[in-house]
Amino acid sequence: MPKRAETHSEPVPAREELNACRRCPLWHDATQGVPGAGPTSAKLMLVGEQPGNEEDLQGEPFVGPAGRLLSEALERAGLERHDVYLTNAVKHFKFELRGKRRLHKTPGQLEVEACGIWLEQEIQAVEPTVIVALGATATGAVLGRKRVALSTLMDEPVEREGRLVVATYHPSFVLRQRSEESRHAAFERIVASLRQAVRLAAGRRSR
Ligand code: URA
Repeated sequence: MPKRAETHSEPVPAREELNACRRCPLWHDATQGVPGAGPTSAKLMLVGEQPGNEEDLQGEPFVGPAGRLLSEALERAGLERHDVYLTNAVKHFKFELRGKRRLHKTPGQLEVEACGIWLEQEIQAVEPTVIVALGATATGAVLGRKRVALSTLMDEPVEREGRLVVATYHPSFVLRQRSEESRHAAFERIVASLRQAVRLAAGRRSR
């Protein structure tokens, strides 16, 4: 995918800024804040929910099981990780301890809203033509809505301040499916959404 010239005025939030963030309590138990990754010239931005256990430890988005699945989906859509800017709605890992295991907990609305300034800064800095929102939390965060019905929003891209938002399943949703058949269907849906995002980005001039 052709890259745009670097004309962006705002930088994306730095790791240190996220580590210093006290806008919600999640920093306290997380190892570190996880900034977005990828070229700031990308036309596509992918937004996930929050870092998972491995992302929290490594400080990089989508490097755990969901990230590996996302890489496969990107590949199927003719994209590579370095073609897109990858980030999360919430930058610190929210979890509950079960023995020694840290189990993912869905971030609450207050945490999503508190983290909104960082996502907004990334959108302003990267100026993506199309944003792919992975799952309901990301879709709500990108569209600034408290509650979203993902299944209805997945039908058509939604316009958000001149950019298109393609809502799709989160890769973890695929991993949670019990049958091979539903895993396959959910994965193919993500691939189709990524392909749609590529087409939309190609057909639309950047703002
Ligand atoms: N899930 C997410 O939403 N983001 C990550 O970075 C990893 C898993």
